[in-house]
Amino acid sequence: MIYDVYYNRKDSPSFLFRIRLDTKQYESLDPSRHFGSIGLLSARIEAGRTHSPKGRLMKKRFDVTIAGETNLDLILYGLPEEMPVERELLANDFRMTLGSSSAILAHNLAALGVSVGFITRLGSDALGKLALERLTEKGVDLSRVKTVTRGTATGVTILLHHGATRHILTYPGTMFEMSASDLDMDYLASGRHFHLSSLFLHKALQPDLPRIFRELKAAGLTLSLDTNDDPEDRWEGGLDELLGLVDIFLPNEDEARRITGASDAESAAAALAKRVPVVVVKCGKRGAFVQTEDRHWLVPTEPVIPVDTIGAGDSFNAGFLSAYLRGESLEVCAAFGNRTAALSTLRSGGTESFRDPSLVESLFVGER
Ligand SMILES: Nc1ncnc2c1ncn2[C@@H]1O[C@H](COP(=O)(O)OP(=O)(O)O)[C@@H](O)[C@H]1O
Ligand SMILES: [Mg+2]
Repeated sequence: MIYDVYYNRKDSPSFLFRIRLDTKQYESLDPSRHFGSIGLLSARIEAGRTHSPKGRLMKKRFDVTIAGETNLDLILYGLPEEMPVERELLANDFRMTLGSSSAILAHNLAALGVSVGFITRLGSDALGKLALERLTEKGVDLSRVKTVTRGTATGVTILLHHGATRHILTYPGTMFEMSASDLDMDYLASGRHFHLSSLFLHKALQPDLPRIFRELKAAGLTLSLDTNDDPEDRWEGGLDELLGLVDIFLPNEDEARRITGASDAESAAAALAKRVPVVVVKCGKRGAFVQTEDRHWLVPTEPVIPVDTIGAGDSFNAGFLSAYLRGESLEVCAAFGNRTAALSTLRSGGTESFRDPSLVESLFVGER
């Protein structure tokens, strides 16, 4: 496991360095003995810093913190290919699952054993309650969730599968309203890594995001971003500035092409890698294309026959980030992302596979 060492100065810890320790080493670690008066920490402090030499190893409270949207997915399967208006059209199956990119990521990361602190804004209604129950089941920390008692309701997405295509109808609800005032920055900074999804749905938060990213970066967190689609197809909303701040960018192929104007995933990734250290373009059943400043490679996946691909990209992010936080190579991170994404497609929506412990355990066969 990789640990970050912080110098703890009042309420604002500052990042010093990152080390790899096994569990035994970590448990027997005595910060004052190992990094104390004559150790690395005081050496750094003595080298020109002014604060008192009371540095200590701070175990971050969470592996990942996320601020983002939560909604439920109502999924209808088997509707007729033609959907005329004013007729009663029959579906052959229906599921209600925890949806939305941020909540799916929080849920699936926690299912993979990652500790997650999640801030979101919900309506005081049955859908919001159910979403919280699903996240609680997996142990996501929800202590800073904001529930509004009047006004806007929790968002919902209705997915209509008909023939080989689907309609996706979203009522954004509270997700459009979450703003910087809903965020406890100390809480978000108490993770090793921060992730933001669905940039273009965070209308009220958008103007503050560059500042928020800068603050979290200064507190030593690594940052990742998955914009998801821009319903207005403009790709603005501060994206350019945010790309200059993140460590990992996780678009899908279509998004990467639209952002850059490139004609394929590979050239889009190359263009994005001029701004971001690690670019991972998700390419559906082809797998994922990883690009760094000087290297790129396609990490193929085993094609599966999906029930649906809702949340596949978010499940990919969960697998990729969980491996990244274990200190794995980018190839291993992408391969694990492919496996978690493929698993997600085998059940309805983006979270149902991750509610089945035996399916989650199957991801780690040969690894633990
Ligand atoms: N038919 C499939 N078989 C296996 N894996 C798939 C399939 N479709 C998607 N995936 C996995 O899901 C990931 C994300 O899917 P993609 O459609 O590219 O992104 P998004 O869900 O964000 O639109 C892919 O990188 C791949 O790992
Ligand atoms: Mg996506």
